[in-house]
Amino acid sequence: MDSTGLKPKMVEATDSIPRHVAIIMDGNGRWAQERGLPRFAGHKAGVEAVRSVVEQCVRLKIEVLTLFAFSSENWRRPAKEVNLLMDLFMLALNREVKRLKRNNVRLCIIGDHGRFAAKLQAKILEAQETTAECNGLTLQIAANYGGRWDLTQAARNIARQVADGRLEPDSITEDTLSDNLSTHGLPDPDLFIRTGGEQRLSNFLLWQSAYAELYLTNVLWPDFSPAVFDQALSDFAGRQRRFGRTTEQLNQSSRNLKDD
Ligand code: IPE
Ligand code: IPE
Ligand code: MG
Repeated sequence: MDSTGLKPKMVEATDSIPRHVAIIMDGNGRWAQERGLPRFAGHKAGVEAVRSVVEQCVRLKIEVLTLFAFSSENWRRPAKEVNLLMDLFMLALNREVKRLKRNNVRLCIIGDHGRFAAKLQAKILEAQETTAECNGLTLQIAANYGGRWDLTQAARNIARQVADGRLEPDSITEDTLSDNLSTHGLPDPDLFIRTGGEQRLSNFLLWQSAYAELYLTNVLWPDFSPAVFDQALSDFAGRQRRFGRTTEQLNQSSRNLKDD
């Protein structure tokens, strides 16, 4: 903590390259419908866009990429679409894990896995184990993920520690919450992108995105090209992240840094 009570990690995140990029990959269905194709064709095309954005993050040495693949609310879709999405998830894990390992990418699947078929749960564990030693990009895939679920399971964990006498209620801090979320140990998202034109959070990383810079684009996810990502990154680089301070304070501290 500095004298203002702000955590140093938040002050550091004024760099022009984000440490953590989080993306709501939306618009697959509309992409397919525009082409007279079934919605599923859009989801398949979306996997290609995932591969490309992962490679770009590796090249740029971004530390963490979190992709929203399936929300806790997406079970409300027609069973046929849900089943096809589960099949596609399985297929993508089978196909991509070797490539991820080659690129030194550590894969983490965040969300409530308990509702997935046993075979898919086993595949998730296997994929995570295969890449566990990789120390380049951390790729988090949010599957059956909801920000409210994440906070609820963190509350349960913390309550257990209190009940066991391992934690005093008065010693619970913001860091205690962060440390019990599925994203524990990772920096919060700096850049939060949503494709597909909607302007909502849809229950993604609610706690973690408290100070994320938002970038909303009408581009549909399967059309998310390296050029679109570059545009988001250059927009981010032009933002001034104040974390509650004034522009004058920030200008003053960057002058001080230059004088050092
Ligand atoms: C996002 O695309 C992918 C998932 C939610 C699984 P959508 O399927 O929501 O696409 P639109 O919003 O209907 O176009
Ligand atoms: C959010 O997209 C979830 C994912 C991209 C996985 P949705 O298309 O499901 O979001 P809503 O329902 O329109 O808010
Ligand atoms: Mg959608």
